[in-house]
Amino acid sequence: MKKYLIIITAVAAIAACNSSPGSGSSSDTTSSASSSTDLSSNPDYQKGLALIASNDCLTCHKVDEKVTGPAYRDVANKYANTDDNVKKLAAKIISGGSGVWGDAAMTPHPALSEADAEQMVKYVLLLRNK
Ligand code: HEC
Repeated sequence: MKKYLIIITAVAAIAACNSSPGSGSSSDTTSSASSSTDLSSNPDYQKGLALIASNDCLTCHKVDEKVTGPAYRDVANKYANTDDNVKKLAAKIISGGSGVWGDAAMTPHPALSEADAEQMVKYVLLLRNK
């Protein structure tokens, strides 16, 4: 009978230990922290951001704020990260245009290669948070 109690106590103690670190926020925090680390170490993110920073994009765009152009975060939340959308948006950056987000126009970027424009779009679409 006493042995029985000891075993039950031991099992309960182990169960309590297992459930407390796993329950709730501590594991959530870990997973979101690691996903943001993944984002900035993602080569598509790094290359796209470097290209964007070395062009004129940031005079009209910010990540979280509308300037002349839409916030990159809003662009990312509007378009799914598919090959089709990457190609379509890259073409739009090269040819410029207006009408999707309002009357303001994006200037054309004819000197950009398709590959570079696509790389920039890949960075932008990684910013999705919805
Ligand atoms: C002169 C200001 C300006 C510059 C410079 C600019 N943009 Fe834009 N961008 C805009 C505006 C305005 C829009 C919204 C166009 C619309 O409503 O169709 C836009 C839209 C976009 C979109 C979304 C297009 C769509 O159809 O939804 C992407 C992606 C984008 N810009 C990326 C870039 C990149 C990358 C660069 C740098 C190579 C850049 N932009 C430079 C003003 C600019």
